[in-house]
Amino acid sequence: HQDRAIRPKSLSDYIGQPHVREQMEIFIGAARARNEALDHTLVFGPPGLGKTTLANIIAEEMGVAIKSTSGPVLEKAGDLAALLTNLEEGDVLFIDEIHRLSPAVEEVLYPAMEDYQLDIMVGEGPAARSIKIDLPAFTLVGATTRAGLLTSPLRDRFGIVQRLEFYNIADLTHIVSRSGRLMKLEVDAGGAKEIARRARGTPRIANRLLRRVRDYAQVKGDGTVDHACADAALNMLNVDVQGFDHMDRRLLLTLLEKYDGGPAGVDSLAASIGEERDTIEDVLEPYLMQQGYITRTPRGRMATKLAYLHFGLDLPARFNQDA
Ligand code: ADE
Repeated sequence: HQDRAIRPKSLSDYIGQPHVREQMEIFIGAARARNEALDHTLVFGPPGLGKTTLANIIAEEMGVAIKSTSGPVLEKAGDLAALLTNLEEGDVLFIDEIHRLSPAVEEVLYPAMEDYQLDIMVGEGPAARSIKIDLPAFTLVGATTRAGLLTSPLRDRFGIVQRLEFYNIADLTHIVSRSGRLMKLEVDAGGAKEIARRARGTPRIANRLLRRVRDYAQVKGDGTVDHACADAALNMLNVDVQGFDHMDRRLLLTLLEKYDGGPAGVDSLAASIGEERDTIEDVLEPYLMQQGYITRTPRGRMATKLAYLHFGLDLPARFNQDA
């Protein structure tokens, strides 16, 4: 994947997320000075905000190796045991989608995190026995979209918890400019800002849009990414002026037109637009809520005034009463 080359490798290259950066600088600096492994760290937030990048930066800044896996890949307790017993002192074990670990695998993780002990059953029936193995002090970095997806015993075993937020336009503009430089591409300030404005607050999307705008600039223009070129390319890609893509608009329009602005349950919405409930909750909804287009109520999702205005629809009477 091309993302590799442009991913920041140190905290000083990591743009945005100032609270995360400030805290991690202190925790990493302190652990290094004490010659200890960093405490287990949970990173959560919507896809594409840099959870994997942060895990790699933690290992780099600690000066240790990183082994990466993901929740669904670890099918059996033995799969996790194999990884744990291959770690060196201080290493980072990164588990993406950590909320998708099976209960049997999670059980192995508890004593490993708490006491650096591998506690595992070998054999079956009357020959079954439990063995305990000392593990090196290691750092588990877990990533998930929503902290609430974790069981509480697992969540409680992380000493550091970082929530990644959507990026503001200034930070995303920096990221696009930096990526342009690394791709040896001429991106002017207006071009970088237009891509940033329409990237759903998400670096992964900004970098993907930048590559498509580069293609457009190469074929339709002189290769330079300026405001006009970015705007034309993003219009062609059906990314609207708010950065909403086809799926965002489909969700909003369904809520507005089919459910009269809501409230609508997430399962009904999922069925109506033919998407997984998880995709709505993890990918679509967080940005639409952060931008103030959807709210969550006990009875379901509701469209806000902004949502009606975005599509040029008449406001229902209920919006006039609270004015
Ligand atoms: N690329 C993706 N996320 C980034 C970030 N936070 N800073 C710099 N480059 C990035």
